[in-house]
Amino acid sequence: MPRGHFITFEGGEGAGKSTQIRLLADRLEAEGHEVVVSREPGGSAGGEAVRHVLLSGAAEPFGPAMEAMLFAAARSDHVEQIIRPAIEAGKIVLCDRFLDSSRVYQGVSGRLDKAFMAALESVAINGMMPDLTIILDLDPVEGMRRAASRRGTDDADRYEKEDLSLHEERREAYIDIARAEPARCVIIDASKERDAVADAVWSRVEKVIAPAGSLLQVADEL
Ligand code: TYD
Repeated sequence: MPRGHFITFEGGEGAGKSTQIRLLADRLEAEGHEVVVSREPGGSAGGEAVRHVLLSGAAEPFGPAMEAMLFAAARSDHVEQIIRPAIEAGKIVLCDRFLDSSRVYQGVSGRLDKAFMAALESVAINGMMPDLTIILDLDPVEGMRRAASRRGTDDADRYEKEDLSLHEERREAYIDIARAEPARCVIIDASKERDAVADAVWSRVEKVIAPAGSLLQVADEL
């Protein structure tokens, strides 16, 4: 059984991650791939239990290090219960946020020590590094506008309530990650039309995934 592929989506609020994940999942399934769509924090029973604690802001009074450890705990459960078994079964896992969100939101915005963050990351992912990370890049003013219109009359969550300067800092932090890891990360302009963004995503995904029935796969089977 050939190993599957692990693709993560990152970006600020309102960048369109969930829409793009859905479009990509449909396209991959139409090509005959088995796809698992997941998200963080959450994605597994343990991860979802921790999600509420984090997004409600219940952990906020205990400080960014505590929050970072909770994100890592949720991630570890998600990796072992959902992601690794799916990848080992040859599936394609698409995940809405993963380790780069912790690097950006806790590491950079939370001003946490680099060595502490690296240690947490390594324990949480336990070797499960994404094959491809798609960073949807958008001006935070536009992102906040989109997030607010999507939310309607519901309350903003702990992260949607923050200042614009923090969102700008995170945008830069994602760009820095992409520069440091160009083989894994790609930045895609999310201000374009939905379908244009989807095409840009697809052209990168195609390079990572040998299409079902391709020469590569046939060669593998010989
Ligand atoms: P969510 O409601 O899933 O929204 P979004 O559409 O922005 O992904 O909220 C997840 C929030 O959790 C988001 O604001 C980023 C934050 N987060 C972290 O701070 N660290 C992490 O490691 C992860 C996975 C998410």
